[in-house]
Amino acid sequence: MDYQIPHEAEGSSQKVHYLLPVLPLKNMTILPKSIIPVIVGRKQSIAAVESALQQDRQVFVTAQRDVEVERPSFKDLYDYGTRAVILQVVRMPKGGFKILVEGVSRSQALSCDSGNGYMQVDCVDSATTGTTDINELEALWRHVRTRYQSYQKINNKLPADILSEVSSVDNMEHAMDTLLAHITLPLDERQVFLEMGNLPERLLYVCKMLDREVTIFETEERIRGSVQSQLERNQREYYLQQQRNAIDKELGRDDQQAEVQQLRAKVKSLKLPRDPAEKVEREIRRLEQMPQSSAEASVVRHYVEWILALPWHKSSRDTINMQAAEKILNKQHAGLKKPKERILEFIAAKKFSNLLKRSPIICLVGPPGVGKTSLASSIAESLGREFRRISLGGVRDEAEIRGHRRTYIGALPGKFLQAMRQVETVNPVILLDEVDKMSTDSHNGDPSAALLEVLDPEQNKAFYDHFLEISYDLSQVMFIATANHIEGIPYPLHDRMELIFLSGYSEQEKFDITKKFLLPRNLKEHGLSSKQCKIPSNVLMILIREYTKEAGVRQLERTLTKILRKVIQLFLEDQSMLTFTLTEEQLRIWLGHSKFKIKPLNAQEERIGLASGLAWTEVGGDLLEIETSIVTGKGNVTLTGQLGEVMQESAYAALTYIRSKAPQLGLKQNFNTTKDIHIHIPEGATPKDGPSAGITLCTAIVSEMTKNPVNPLVAMTGEITLRGRVLPVGGLKEKILAAWQHGIKKVILPRENKEEIDEMQSELNTRDITLKFVDTMDEVLEEALLRSPFSAKHAKAKRAAGDDHHASSNQTS
Ligand SMILES: Nc1ncnc2c1ncn2[C@@H]1O[C@H](COP(=O)(O)OP(=O)(O)O)[C@@H](O)[C@H]1O
Ligand SMILES: [Mg+2]
Repeated sequence: MDYQIPHEAEGSSQKVHYLLPVLPLKNMTILPKSIIPVIVGRKQSIAAVESALQQDRQVFVTAQRDVEVERPSFKDLYDYGTRAVILQVVRMPKGGFKILVEGVSRSQALSCDSGNGYMQVDCVDSATTGTTDINELEALWRHVRTRYQSYQKINNKLPADILSEVSSVDNMEHAMDTLLAHITLPLDERQVFLEMGNLPERLLYVCKMLDREVTIFETEERIRGSVQSQLERNQREYYLQQQRNAIDKELGRDDQQAEVQQLRAKVKSLKLPRDPAEKVEREIRRLEQMPQSSAEASVVRHYVEWILALPWHKSSRDTINMQAAEKILNKQHAGLKKPKERILEFIAAKKFSNLLKRSPIICLVGPPGVGKTSLASSIAESLGREFRRISLGGVRDEAEIRGHRRTYIGALPGKFLQAMRQVETVNPVILLDEVDKMSTDSHNGDPSAALLEVLDPEQNKAFYDHFLEISYDLSQVMFIATANHIEGIPYPLHDRMELIFLSGYSEQEKFDITKKFLLPRNLKEHGLSSKQCKIPSNVLMILIREYTKEAGVRQLERTLTKILRKVIQLFLEDQSMLTFTLTEEQLRIWLGHSKFKIKPLNAQEERIGLASGLAWTEVGGDLLEIETSIVTGKGNVTLTGQLGEVMQESAYAALTYIRSKAPQLGLKQNFNTTKDIHIHIPEGATPKDGPSAGITLCTAIVSEMTKNPVNPLVAMTGEITLRGRVLPVGGLKEKILAAWQHGIKKVILPRENKEEIDEMQSELNTRDITLKFVDTMDEVLEEALLRSPFSAKHAKAKRAAGDDHHASSNQTS
């Protein structure tokens, strides 16, 4: 580049002086070569412009040191300003101008005169100095150029050609001015540049400014960039979400989203304990990943719904009020005095020992149809709790209690959690119906072991169900069990239970229950009123006596409904009929021959080898006829008629007793080796407690052997020992009732049962029957046989009892 370096500045004495009006600027400097519009509004300035326009249009423009000053004087202005020329003038409507000025040269005011309403300065152009070293200049110039180029790159609003035509220092100076005009600088920095006279310094200054601008610009870019990228990320996510929604919709998953959200909301509102909550969340997440209609999704859904359907916190308030409880029990059940007392005791204990969690489990034991199930539901009602019955009869698989693993198709939780789901509260009463009918074979896991866990207060806080795979707290549930026989209750369960026995009903009790409960309830259920349909007491009694045979009232209720259906049929056939009264004839027509009519006893019958025992069976008490026959033989004993092992043992015990008493009874010592004995029980009633037939067996054998008839009006029950002691037995109420029904006049019973029987005297209501309590078989024989077995005829033998005793012990040893 060929610079034309100007001559060293001339001395200030040779400088041209200009006398110019001053235009003070607020917040602005005008560099040479830049053209800038200025609004002129202040009086002083207007006068200055007017004056300039009348001369050669030149003004001295300079910045105010303080913007706030409205009427600046010379000292308020910077000395260094710009000599400028007014290019255009537009007069404003409300006075003042809008002018366009172009900077001509940097200038310094030397003095001021403000006589004519405006300031007028004497000023000289300021010269540029320090331009001697051309290399330094070139170096600086290159510097500026590269800076400028990089600045241009980032700020593309800059004109490209500002620096291209620089060929002289003069140009260079102009270029600097133009350049700086394009850079945004604060006023004071611009002023510094304006006053700066040394060219290298000015170039350096420009470099600095450019550098700073670039840095600022870059920082700005970076900030904008990061803001931008944040925005972009948000946008991207939004976009992807939209896309996903579209895909979901296509695949039918948007319902699923809604579903999943609903499930989550439900989990939250249910306040699940941590364990199940986590489990459910895991499953819900799995559900989200699956196509909605897939088989697996429906399995997961089924599972989650199960957990959400279970009660987790909701409970019924125990409303234990003894009077109310008693009222409820009485309102729904006639009789049952003792069981009700026991139940009320239990409820009271529950009330006071709610903290003692280890209250025993009640087990109602008794024959079918005596109200065990319905009592349990009344207990729940009197506690104000929900009630659910779980039938354990025939349960043989642990999975029925604990549920199937989810891998099975159609798997479900076990009976307990199913019940919990239905009651919807955490503290229901759950009835374990017929625990004695539960199978205990452990082919498929022992269900009774699982049941034991349910009932154990230590373990049932965390009852594990295979289907749900979580533990569930059953500790607030109150369990009640029922059973027909205590023998069938699995031993460990038996151990935890408090047994309450319900015995069968007498005719009178059945009658009362029917009158008070069964008939009104069934009439109502059939849409009949008690006025429309009447069943007289005597007909009802025939129905009970001759058409039902049971300990409870099930058969009775069934027969009753059968009759009511027939009555309805009659009403429908004959519209004119208004009331109906059941007669005996009609009853017999509808029900046919009486099935269980008791044959009247023949008091004259000669009963040798035939004795009446009393048995306890499923259907209540029954008369048990035991027949024996003795023929010449080798001492064989045969038993026929469905006799169990226990009965057989009783028979042998009886024989041993008889042998020991042989002389007193007038029997030959060796009868057992010369005779065959056949024992038979004709009617198929299978007694449940075998040993209680002991004394009857013995009586029948003695009667047959001694040909001494048994009193036909006597019946008996009791276990016999080898030495002829009579031991107590069970099922007494049913047995005595059965005896009474058959017209028996005297019942022989073990003395040890006396207390028990005295207690139930009120329920028995057996008027014309004598109860004989005995300790020994000898007494039984005395009471049962028509002639005294130890008669005078055998007195001799009786006297020799000591020897006989000896002989018999020899024989048995
Ligand atoms: N003492 C009673 N008072 C009123 N109704 C009774 C009585 N005992 C039984 N019942 C009724 O007899 C029917 C059978 O009773 P249920 O409870 O099923 O007997 P269980 O469970 O002992 O076999 C039920 O309708 C019940 O209400
Ligand atoms: Mg039942």
